Order: sequence, then structure tokens, then C-alpha cells
Amino acid sequence: MNAIRILSENVASQIAAGEVIDRPASVVRELIDNSIDAGADRIAVEIENGGKGLIKVNDNGVGMSRDDLLLCVERHATSKIETASDLFSVKSFGFRGEALPSIASVSRTEIVTRPHDQLVGHRLKISGGKLIAIEAAGCPDGTIIAVKDLFYNIPARRKFLRAARTETDHVIDVFSRAALAFPDVGFKLADAKKSILNLPPSDQPLHRLHALMGRKVAESMIEAREEGVSLRITAYLAPAEMSRTRGDRVFVYVNRRHIRDRLVTKAILEGYRQRLMKGQYPQAVVFIETDPAQVDVNVHPTKQEVRFHNSRVVFQTIVSCIEKALSRRTPADIGLEPLLRKENVYQGEISPFAAEPAWHYAEAARSPTPLVESEASEPPLLREGPQIIGQLGNTYILCQMEDGLLMVDQHAAHERIVYESLKKGLKRSRIEIQALLIPYKLELSKKERGFVHEKSEQLKRFGIELEHFGGNTFLLRSVPAILGEVEWESFLSELIAELMDDTAAAEGFSDNVLKVMACHGAIRAGHRMSREEIGHLLIRLNETEIPTNCPHGRPIFKRFTYYEIEKMFKRVV
Ligand SMILES: Nc1ncnc2c1ncn2[C@@H]1O[C@H](COP(=O)(O)OP(=O)(O)OP(=O)(O)O)[C@@H](O)[C@H]1O
Ligand SMILES: [Mg+2]
Repeated sequence: MNAIRILSENVASQIAAGEVIDRPASVVRELIDNSIDAGADRIAVEIENGGKGLIKVNDNGVGMSRDDLLLCVERHATSKIETASDLFSVKSFGFRGEALPSIASVSRTEIVTRPHDQLVGHRLKISGGKLIAIEAAGCPDGTIIAVKDLFYNIPARRKFLRAARTETDHVIDVFSRAALAFPDVGFKLADAKKSILNLPPSDQPLHRLHALMGRKVAESMIEAREEGVSLRITAYLAPAEMSRTRGDRVFVYVNRRHIRDRLVTKAILEGYRQRLMKGQYPQAVVFIETDPAQVDVNVHPTKQEVRFHNSRVVFQTIVSCIEKALSRRTPADIGLEPLLRKENVYQGEISPFAAEPAWHYAEAARSPTPLVESEASEPPLLREGPQIIGQLGNTYILCQMEDGLLMVDQHAAHERIVYESLKKGLKRSRIEIQALLIPYKLELSKKERGFVHEKSEQLKRFGIELEHFGGNTFLLRSVPAILGEVEWESFLSELIAELMDDTAAAEGFSDNVLKVMACHGAIRAGHRMSREEIGHLLIRLNETEIPTNCPHGRPIFKRFTYYEIEKMFKRVV
């Protein structure tokens, strides 16, 4: 007996539906896509019981004639493409003719529609893929699609749906992602007849950002634009301080289609590089506009993944867009500038090591004798306006700013300064090396031994000379001068561990060495600093490329405006 048979149309369409529709939110996404393709500028979504009871989408788009209405629930029926070649430059959201038949095969669906140039509209009822009725109906122009009892005929599927609250959250997410890309379209969302979101149309993309990302985030965002070969990027970037441990606030769009794309996410993280700690994601919205022929949208059943023909250009354009935009945030934007005006720092001779590289400064900063000893030689302070207040716990620098308090993490700040000067030094192959008079003996594990053997030439470039002494013992013969008198044992073990860590390897060997060196070479928390040293540290910080974060992405400073402080003390409410 033959084992292979053709599945019935009913089973086949349920299988197809399973790929397109997996929960109420995917129905909402498909219906909103259709409304936008139909040219609607007003879309209202209503759900009940997390969309498990009802999903209704009402639009004022072009509507459908009776014949089209009958056809739209057939598989592979679409008005959006005609030939196979159209598939390679899809300009609409839909192109497969799959969404409505899929939805109709797993629910009780009712579609009421009227094109604006026809007097009478039509209502179609279809249940579990079976046509129940089609009749003339009086209705506004546009289309209303009501999807009831999703998966009523596939109990196994229905069982997998989550609590109404969770499904509602997914619907809100899908709805918001769509609305973010179409500020010119009015969007409404109601749950059990209660309005959840009401977004009037606007010609200002910022209004949408406000409504969906929250005022605080939206106001902090900077807008960035960049053009590449047949590519335009528009990005809205929240500062790195607002980053999150999940990537749920990274929104990526290709020709206004919301997508999830690892390459683009990676590019965004790369653009924020060193401003984010490991495992953190920024809040960012990135719109990619490209010639539809340059991107394949037909790679995933939910159309949420795409393939770029020139993914390298996409990657690089996004990175450069974000990098440039974030580096526009100069200390002046952040507010260091007024503090650094000459009259506010140190007025006498500018510090003895002002012209020296940072590592000399690190040396001096570590010296046990305070550089400024007597009270009399303290820099004069302004009574009002920006000034250095002093140190807190020998760890944080406190400054009075025009608008409040600035707290600087001295270690993080110096780490950034040292890192950048080391990097510059490395570029010019000028990392200062100090030979140790008495080589330092070091015991390594077998694994570390192999690693050090392999990398010893590379480490030499940084001034770290390790010589094999026999067995697992190595001699540390020279070190980068900047490190002065660090704990060799702990420095080397951290360095080797960091370099052997695969997850860090992506950052690149030399960057990892520089980071560990900067961390160990920078002044520590708990180190007392004179006012002069503090002033000098701030000047140097001001000169760095990324004065906001240490090389590991930790923030360097935090500001508290008078307003925030006054709120804290309930002087204002
Ligand atoms: N809201 C609407 N207003 C007007 N016409 C619509 C609407 N929704 C669907 N249609 C018509 O029904 C057709 C079928 O819709 P369906 O979503 O099944 O397929 P599609 O959008 O063409 O492709 P895809 O399966 O990729 O979404 C569409 O091509 C369109 O002509
Ligand atoms: Mg569609």
C-alpha cells in the first residue's frame, strides 16, 4: 500500500495558517499591514479577552468590491504582486495572499467593506475556512475585519495561548511598533471597549516617539541621519544612560516595516560601543530606507526577517550614523564645559603635568605626597556658578554646576583618559616601556602557559614582556610605564583571563589589552586627590572622545539638577 497521500485542503490551510498566525498579536499585525497597504490614514483596533475573544480592525482605506471580498479569503489571492519578478522589489507589506485565508481558517471572521466610490458595501462571513454568507450591507467606506474565537477549531493551538493580560501585552507591542513608523496615520487601540492608546496623526515623528516611548526617553533622544549607497538611515537614539538589560526597546524598520534583525541590532550596539556595559541594550529607533530591490522580504513566514543584498553597507552605515551622532554629545551638552572655563578651575600656573601624557599624570596622582599641601595654595573658588566642591569618600568628585550637582566617578574618568591616550600611543607605536630591574616571577596554569606562549609577541607591543623560565614559571621582564607599581599578579591574571575569554575575543585582542591596562593604570577609588588634580582630571576628561563612559561602558558621571534635588526634599512637588 502506498504511504504518501495529498493532505486535504482544510489540513493544508491549517498548516499554512500555523506558520503565519500563532497568537492574537500576529492577527493584529497582519490586519494593520493590510490597512496600511490599503492606504488608510485612520486605523482603529479593538480587542476583547487579549484578542482571544475578538480582534477588530477598522480602517478608512480603499475597501473591496464584492468580487474582491470573495477572493481575499482564498489562498494566494493578492492584489499586491503579479509576477515572480515582483517578489524581488516588494513595495507593500503584503505580497503572499496568505494572511486573510490563514486567519479565516482558524477563527470566525466577518469582513465588512465598501470602496468609497460604491454606494453599497458587502459583508462576508467565514468560519473555519468555510464561507457562511455574503450579503450587501450599509457601511462606511473602508474595511472592518472582526476575528472572533481564534483557534476555536484547533483546541491544541488554543491551549497554547497565554493569559489575556499577556496576549494583550503582545498586541500592544505589535500595535505600537506599527504606529511608531506611521506618525501620519491615526491609530487607536481599545481593550474591552476601554481606550488604551489614542494616537492622532501628526507630521512630527517626535509626537509618536513621545506617545510610545514616554516623554522622558523621547525628549532625551537625538536624531541622526546618514546616507549610504542606495540607503538612508534615520535614527532616534536615547543616551546610553537609559540603556536596559533587554533589547525590547530597540526598534528596527526597513521601509517602515518592523523587523527583527541580528545584523542591524549588532550594528546598533557597535555604534553605541563603549557607552554600554556588557549585556546592555540602548533605547533606539532605527529606520532604514532602501530601494525595495535591495532587500529580500520573502525569507520568513511572518515577514519579520529580511535579507539585505549589501549587508556590509547596511551595517557600516548604521554604525557610522550612530557613532557620529553620539560623539556630537560633547561635554558642553553634558555640562562639563562651564566647569572647565579657566576661571572655574585653577588659576595659577597650569598644573605641572598638563602637557604630559596621561600615564605620567597617573604616576603623579599616585604619589604619596599631596601635590597641593597648604590651604593657601588651594585654587580660588567662585562663590556662585560652577565649582569643584571636593571629593566624596575619596572616590567621587563633586562639582557644583549651573543647574545642580555633578558627581564624577574618579576611577572611571581616569580609566577613560588612560585608555584613550594608550590607544593613541599604540597607533603611533609609542607605548612607553619600563624594564623591571628585578624581573617578577610568575606561576601560570598549563592552559595559561600555552596561551602566553602563543601571544607573547603580541603582548610585547604593549610593553609586556614575559619570558619562559621553565615549567609553568615565567619572568615578567618589562611592563608598560603607565602601570607604575600595580599588583603584577592580579594585573596579569586578569589580563590573561580576559584575553582567553571567548565572548570578549570579538572586541579584538588589542582593545582588550588596552582596557585591562587602563583599568589597572587608572587612579583607584579611595585615592585622595587634591583640587588641582581634580581640575586637571576634568580637563583631560573633557578632551576625550567619549567623556561619558569608561571603556567598559560604565557611566563616568551623574548629574542631579536643582529641580531633581528640590523634588527629593519636597520643596517642589
Ligand atoms: N483592509 C483592507 N482593505 C482593502 N483591501 C484589503 C484589506 N485587507 C486585505 N485586502 C485585500 O485582500 C487581499 C488579501 O489580503 P491578505 O492579507 O490575505 O494578502 P496580502 O496582503 O496580499 O499578502 P500577505 O499574505 O503577505 O499579507 C489583499 O491583497 C488586498 O487586496
Ligand atoms: Mg496582508
